[in-house]
Amino acid sequence: EKGGYDHFMLKEIFEQPDTIFDCLRGRLDATKGTIRMAGIQQNIQQLTQAKRIIMIACGTSWHAGLIAEYIFEELCRIPVEVEYASEFRYRNPVIHPGDVIIAISQSGETADTIVAIEKAKESGAFILGVVNVVGSSIARISHAGAYTHAGPEIGVASTKAFTAQLAVLTMIALKIAHEKGTIDTTRYMQLLGELHSVPEKVKEVLKLSESIRGLAQKYKDAKDALYLGRGYNFAVALEGALKLKEISYIHAEGYPAAEMKHGPIALVDEQLPVVFVATKDSYHEKIVSNIQEIKARKGRVIAVISHGDSIIENMAEDCMRIPETDEIIAPMLSVIPLQLLAYYIGAVKGYDVDKPRNLAKSVTVE
Ligand code: F6R
Repeated sequence: EKGGYDHFMLKEIFEQPDTIFDCLRGRLDATKGTIRMAGIQQNIQQLTQAKRIIMIACGTSWHAGLIAEYIFEELCRIPVEVEYASEFRYRNPVIHPGDVIIAISQSGETADTIVAIEKAKESGAFILGVVNVVGSSIARISHAGAYTHAGPEIGVASTKAFTAQLAVLTMIALKIAHEKGTIDTTRYMQLLGELHSVPEKVKEVLKLSESIRGLAQKYKDAKDALYLGRGYNFAVALEGALKLKEISYIHAEGYPAAEMKHGPIALVDEQLPVVFVATKDSYHEKIVSNIQEIKARKGRVIAVISHGDSIIENMAEDCMRIPETDEIIAPMLSVIPLQLLAYYIGAVKGYDVDKPRNLAKSVTVE
């Protein structure tokens, strides 16, 4: 059932070319320039006229929400907030009728997310579910939705569900933006093309597996790690750190790269691995100077970069090179080396990566 892999987590990481393909299939037509999503199409007025979108989720799904915030604001010009379901449900948030809630959940059974949705619903918000498990509670209580179609995720650490969430959220943003006219046709067609090529590029990224296993050997005894990214890759840094914590029990923190000098830089010494998510994008020059700041303090720089980035290659101790793509699409590729790194460190240390201590696959308690 693990299909020859040692763990479900590794199998699920390797399934991503197929799961992303399945997620796009029948929806995205990059040649015709169409995105077919019935749940979005039927509610397109509600979505294009939204004055505000609130993403509600927990954990890895919350990270997908953070990335979607940047994508939706860039493409749709709608203000977006991202909330932890567990905070949203207990505070007294301002919700107006007509606000759109995008609830993101792999399992569709996370207790806090369910209650947060119910609360928003009572205030007249429109609930759009982005859920993996068909027929789950969140799928049922949402007004409309789009499934991620990643198939069952058995490993406790979420991997393929995350990239499928990004694919679905990107398609929803593109569809709204196209309908609203906040994206020009050239950029729209270009992004559809880039999205279409993601499964092939993910296959390329997965070829790094053996070399990342080597990095895992090298860094497995680290006590702490820092993960830094900017822009679309900021939440990828958070997700990379979460994966490492869960699977390898190494303390890790994710931060926006520029925020590091407001505190975390105090941790940097010659022992500390600092993982930069630094693919070629509009933030590149800025992140290069952040790398310099870490190097000046003798931190050990490991970087996820785009192929052919000789600037960062010459600065980092170790690099994971991935194919170039649009910055909006990049997280779907840049997260994969970080999933592999966490997996191999956990596996090399002999941990039960599919069932990390203290964690459950879906958190149905409060
Ligand atoms: C991390 C992880 C958790 C879940 C979180 C939300 O690898 O799996 O952080 O992402 O518990 O779960 P869902 O998406 O099922 O609502």
